[in-house]
Amino acid sequence: MATTQASHTALMIAAYRARATAAEGALISDPWAAALAGEDGMRIARELDAVYPHMELWTAVRTALLDDLVETYTSPPHDFRQVIMLGAGLDTRAARLAKGGVRFYEVDQPKTQAEKRKRIEALPGYPKGAAIFVECDFERDALAEKLTLAGVDLGAPALVIWEGVTPYLVEAAVRATLRAIATTLHPRSVVVFDHLLKKQAEQKEHAQGYVQRLGEPVVFGTNDPVPMLYEEGFRHVRSLSFDEACLSLTGTYAREREFRFQRIVLASATAPARPSTI
Ligand SMILES: C[S@@+](CC[C@H](N)C(=O)[O-])C[C@H]1O[C@@H](n2cnc3c(N)ncnc32)[C@H](O)[C@@H]1O
Repeated sequence: MATTQASHTALMIAAYRARATAAEGALISDPWAAALAGEDGMRIARELDAVYPHMELWTAVRTALLDDLVETYTSPPHDFRQVIMLGAGLDTRAARLAKGGVRFYEVDQPKTQAEKRKRIEALPGYPKGAAIFVECDFERDALAEKLTLAGVDLGAPALVIWEGVTPYLVEAAVRATLRAIATTLHPRSVVVFDHLLKKQAEQKEHAQGYVQRLGEPVVFGTNDPVPMLYEEGFRHVRSLSFDEACLSLTGTYAREREFRFQRIVLASATAPARPSTI
């Protein structure tokens, strides 16, 4: 068990990103992940390997897909100049994908954020001003107020990345976060998040059992997020399974990975001028 009070799943994901960076034919490159994960993160990842050996690939697919979206939305013809990472953990996108004129916000619980700041302070070469830090607990705090106070421009669209967080939140917090995004941010803003299907979220063994023992139980999953997104103010939704994402990125498929039980969703409060059918 790690000794830090930071999120243990955040340490674990940083460790998987470090390993995926070093893998042959790497899908991602995160030069800081190994140092940020530390030996505690690496140990947690090794322990999870024993119950779910596909987590490294799964993490790489998710990060590669989200990195591409950040690149896309911050490049012409898009004009997004704000990227907000919700539950940022030890993610280093603000440093890796820095671009002139684009502001990155990192939102997380105070203890995890404090530990991240401590770890990046000790990291030679890490651009320490890359992100604006925002402390927020999605189950207690008003996200809209926190983002406004932090200087998010509500008159311009933002890309909101919510990576690996929804499984750990009660549905009311998932909904409140979505509502804050749909009703406070500029209507062209886009949120991207991953979620488990219900059956996986309710499973108490394998990966879910392991993260529960880390003190971060999985509590949320949905088979169809469209009704919830509609009710919370979204009018454009696209969803992709991890099998589909992995197939495009690696040309491989394996049923035993169980990637079909996990999806990535993109949503905005207004549809683009000509929404593609797929
Ligand atoms: C699995 S980690 C993912 C971290 C990061 N997004 C990544 O992909 O590396 C889950 C993150 O969600 C954050 N989190 C969990 N519950 C939260 C809450 N109630 N409010 C704010 N953040 C939360 C944790 O602190 C942690 O950083």
